[in-house]
Amino acid sequence: HHELDGFPQGFLWGAASAAYQAEGAWNVDGKGPSIWDGFCKQPGRTFQGSNGDVAVDHYHRFREDIALMAEMGLKAYRFSVSWPRLYPDGRGPLNEAGLAFYEKLIDTLRAHDIEPILTLYHWDLPQALQDDYGGWESRRIVADFERYCVTLFRRLAGKVRFWVSLNEQNYNLTNAYQLGTHPPGVRNRKRFFQANHHAFLANAGAIAAFRDLVPDGLIGPSFAYSPAYPASPDPRDMLAFENAEEFTNHWWLDTYCLGRYPGAALAYLRKTGEAPEILPGDRDLLAQGRPDFIGINYYQTLTYADNPPDGETMRGINTTGEKGTTPASGVPGLYKTRPNPHVETTNWDWAIDPTGLRLGLRRLSSRYGLPILITENGLGEFDRLERGDLIHDDYRIAYLKDHIAACREAITDGVDLLGYCVWSFTDILSWLNGYQKRYGLVYVDRDERDPKDLRRIRKDSYFWYQKIIKDNGGNI
Ligand code: BG6
Repeated sequence: HHELDGFPQGFLWGAASAAYQAEGAWNVDGKGPSIWDGFCKQPGRTFQGSNGDVAVDHYHRFREDIALMAEMGLKAYRFSVSWPRLYPDGRGPLNEAGLAFYEKLIDTLRAHDIEPILTLYHWDLPQALQDDYGGWESRRIVADFERYCVTLFRRLAGKVRFWVSLNEQNYNLTNAYQLGTHPPGVRNRKRFFQANHHAFLANAGAIAAFRDLVPDGLIGPSFAYSPAYPASPDPRDMLAFENAEEFTNHWWLDTYCLGRYPGAALAYLRKTGEAPEILPGDRDLLAQGRPDFIGINYYQTLTYADNPPDGETMRGINTTGEKGTTPASGVPGLYKTRPNPHVETTNWDWAIDPTGLRLGLRRLSSRYGLPILITENGLGEFDRLERGDLIHDDYRIAYLKDHIAACREAITDGVDLLGYCVWSFTDILSWLNGYQKRYGLVYVDRDERDPKDLRRIRKDSYFWYQKIIKDNGGNI
């Protein structure tokens, strides 16, 4: 038994949110529509037709929310900027009222000594760009995204030190172009890899511009990181596991951090005719996009087995919270997912695996040699509001405790960990899963159809995290 190293001084104990999921005010102060504003209103897209029109009205209640953060002792708050608030048509003239909201938000955070972590893109693309040129499917988005980012870099450079470029490009675009469950609801692998290539270029272009405009800042993408496990030591499962690492993790992380696609995956896609078109100059741009840190959103590990050429295809997700309803999913000839019998799962079938976080942090640290910022980790569950305004979310406390302990072990293992953001600060909209799948440390009284009074109520996990922060991780 040896003493664990503690969390470093200045460790960013944070919590997170995203514009569409928290703000509401979807058509206020000159904001243009995003692709989510329309998509959620198409019948059958989301759990009970829930959408973010009102969300938890963070746009109007941010002062109250920040007061709760300050009382908790939170060191950092991660939020995202809505591109169509600043540019209602995605480009063209700047909507100053939209930017003014974020300036107020940031000033209020700073006044309470809370470090803002600003995400530039958390999926809410301006609808106008989708309509004009197909959004991520066109190279034109690279210049429009850079212009939007440069506006924020210029105006906020002195106030914001930590920046996240794209949130979960991997998860979002896989849903958008392979599963068809996020806008624009396409199922086509060739189009997927091309749209994804443009997102890499946009990410790199933004980071290259950042170097000149925010020299003291730090920037990196947030990746939805599910470390892969093999279902067994059968060499066929081991190969499937390697395939999954290559296609579900290295495809993104190598490109972000090393400036090139992983070789085996690219070779495979060239054979199937699905490789993205890479133009002269693209590789140079990608090489300029090396981040300062890797942001990871960690929820679970995934376990992979051999999948024959006529095997499982990509399938949807469990959006109801009925345990055991997630279909097996895979890419024929490469891999398929399998339940892991060694770990518990949430009601949405997500594996609860704190050890997976420790080993994932180690894998990334040794492969890329960069600091890591955990930009999301948390538990989506049903919560029960009890009489006397009490929410006894001991299951969430247990989840967070085990994952924070895993962070501490990873630090002891030598990982350079900058901070840890709980997903989420208040309850917010869970995209396809409505408001019943709650992540917050603070309960918000609303449901799928009825925004009620949107009252904020501290959960037990709020008081627990308050103590963790006070003790800088203490003896977790
Ligand atoms: C990530 C996203 O996918 O995980 C968040 O960055 C999201 O926006 C979170 O809410 C949890 O996923 P879900 O689908 O359970 O809300």
